[in-house]
Amino acid sequence: MCGIFGYIGNKSAAPILIKGLKDLEYRGYDSVGLALLGNKINISKCTGTVESLKLDIEEFKTEKIGIAHTRWATHGKVTKDNAHPHQSQDGKIVVIHNGIIENEKRIRDLLIKEGFILKSETDSELIAHLISKAYKLNISPLECVQEVLKYLTGTWGLCVIFEDEDCIICARNGSSIALGLGNNENFISSDPYALSEYTDKIIYLEDGEVALITKNNIEVTSESGDQIEPKITIFSEEWSDSSLIEYPHHMLKEINEQPESIRRCIAGRIIIESGDCKLNGLELTDSELKDSTHITLIGCGTALNACQVGSLIITELADIVTNAYEASEFATNNMIIDNQGLYFVVTQSGETADILSAIKYIKNKGGDVRGIVNVVGSSVARECGKGVYLYSGQEKSVASTKVFSNMVTALIMLGIQIGRARNLNEEVAKILLADLIEVPDIIEKYLKRNIDFSEVIAAINKSKQVIFLGRGLSAPIAREGALKLMEITYIPCLGYSAGAMKHGPLALLEENSPVIIIAPKDEHREKLISNLLECKSRGAKIIIIHQEGDDEITQYADISISVPYTGRLLSPLMTVIPLHLISYYTGLKLGKNIDKPRNLAKSVTVG
Ligand code: BG6
Repeated sequence: MCGIFGYIGNKSAAPILIKGLKDLEYRGYDSVGLALLGNKINISKCTGTVESLKLDIEEFKTEKIGIAHTRWATHGKVTKDNAHPHQSQDGKIVVIHNGIIENEKRIRDLLIKEGFILKSETDSELIAHLISKAYKLNISPLECVQEVLKYLTGTWGLCVIFEDEDCIICARNGSSIALGLGNNENFISSDPYALSEYTDKIIYLEDGEVALITKNNIEVTSESGDQIEPKITIFSEEWSDSSLIEYPHHMLKEINEQPESIRRCIAGRIIIESGDCKLNGLELTDSELKDSTHITLIGCGTALNACQVGSLIITELADIVTNAYEASEFATNNMIIDNQGLYFVVTQSGETADILSAIKYIKNKGGDVRGIVNVVGSSVARECGKGVYLYSGQEKSVASTKVFSNMVTALIMLGIQIGRARNLNEEVAKILLADLIEVPDIIEKYLKRNIDFSEVIAAINKSKQVIFLGRGLSAPIAREGALKLMEITYIPCLGYSAGAMKHGPLALLEENSPVIIIAPKDEHREKLISNLLECKSRGAKIIIIHQEGDDEITQYADISISVPYTGRLLSPLMTVIPLHLISYYTGLKLGKNIDKPRNLAKSVTVG
């Protein structure tokens, strides 16, 4: 999704904006641009990365006000004209926007009828023209923006500068805007991370709010136009360094951060003596857990795969109906919401629009929803007000790895907490928790082995498609493996439960078609072997991820990849690691942009 950054103060804005753009590039990155305000407004924009802006910041030393944008195209192709910022006809008003204006067609027709010449295909440009119309009514910049927002439907996180005004106006409706309070300077960003080097005092704009920002003051007004006292949050995420350190890519760094990340997720939440987990942020009593009749987990992309692993584990540990849903479908299919159920949205960024719509839907239907979230202070965390933080630290690579593992870890602990409030045996819970505490060390040792995946990469990097199969807990891991390889290498991949193969995907197989089978030693073994043989008999190249010493399954493998044993219910935390690494190294082999795959974004704030 787009990234927004802004600065107003006594320093030269250009270098601060460029750094801000670099920090936000992971959000969306098909084009970039910025506007600097000195005596007049100067705009630089282009398709491609921040580097391609080639802005000579020395030239713009005196400009102390500026706004900047990274684009992830929704309306209009990836062109320089469609890149942000967008200007009013007289060039005196400039807008950057993150989100989608749903009634853009009607506004576009209206403006064209009034003689406005539109330079781009974007919905965002229309906002600049509307504001310039309002500004001619001699009302203040704040009132201009408030007036125009009344005519818009859709989502926005936007910033506006006026050539004749020493201020920046920001507004939020659905797309996150964080304001950073400095000394004689103030900052604006789509996410708090990009502000952390300048300040830890953050104001999160809420939906409908508009802010007037000068270098010494931030004035926030509500949707009804009343001035409100903004809540200042201290943002402190000092425990993870988001720079690459010695790693070539954030993805490889984040894969290697998984042991530490899981340790942080379980820290202080396991009471091994009594076989309990305490996720205090849930604000749920044991009797509420005991009386709840079903659990609903909601996520997108990688988070959905984690929800599917979680739903199987919670069903088993807590003996309660647990379902996982894709968020974009949840809010639009008349789902029945009842207050006997517990609803959890699972998300890395906490800004995904489909997740925010699902929350709104559940709340409108009188349901209670909790967040399982990585980004502290994110919109989902604030909307839910209760839940579980994942403590993975910042995840920059678009393909999620360490946060997936923390999502599965948190859902295992949730299953134990609910289970212990119901009828989960203390000894069973103690054994599982003892194994869970071991997992970070086991993964750490495994990662230090620097496994050679060249045989697998050779088998898949030129293939027409790659199929991932698993049963039980390994079926969602197969889907996660497929998603990762597709995200990073653009090779068409399918992730399926192995039993479903014969009902269609088997048609895809021909001689040497790579089939990656996730095969921990568990109750699905026999059926998995017959599914494996169905593929083998059609000439597929069988690549098996199995536990060490499991000779029974390796006899069927053309290529075998062993992982340490971690306990039956914990196998997803281990079997996913080689899948992450295979995706990474295959992407590397194919020369792909590992951390910023084409067309994708770290969080999608449009529904
Ligand atoms: C996509 C990301 O945009 O959103 C995926 O590329 C991610 O990696 C998905 O899994 C869901 O995002 P989130 O932040 O809600 O977990």
